[in-house]
Amino acid sequence: MKMLIFSVMGLFLLLPTPARAQQVQVQIKECEACHGPGGVSSDDDIPSLAGMDAGGIVSAMEEFHYYERHCTTTTYRHGDRPKTPLNMCNVANTLSDRERRELAEYFAAQ
Ligand code: HEC
Repeated sequence: MKMLIFSVMGLFLLLPTPARAQQVQVQIKECEACHGPGGVSSDDDIPSLAGMDAGGIVSAMEEFHYYERHCTTTTYRHGDRPKTPLNMCNVANTLSDRERRELAEYFAAQ
């Protein structure tokens, strides 16, 4: 019985990790659809994220979240199908603090 309880607990501890890793991959693709593969932008009106300081990315996202920074609505530049144009305030509003931090760390490391 103890074994069973421990294995069930173990399962719950393990489960969130792969699900979260998959989710962050989806979000990275979403950013890259505008900011370019690996966060290297090929468009003048979209800044590159690659090599930016992670803290700088997080604070920019917070400023967009609180509408303290102007956000221009723009079209997606990469990916298979055209999607509804979006701006950084919309983008930042869909993300949790943890997600912003994880995405910032990913792009800073590119
Ligand atoms: C629809 C296109 C689009 C998507 C999707 C998008 N961005 Fe942006 N992003 C922009 C544009 C355009 C700017 C330039 C600022 C402006 O005009 O609003 C920008 C600016 C930024 C900045 C500020 C950079 C600087 O130089 O200060 C950061 C950080 C950022 N984006 C992160 C992200 C992250 C992380 C994602 C994915 C969760 C993402 N963006 C998704 C279009 C997009």
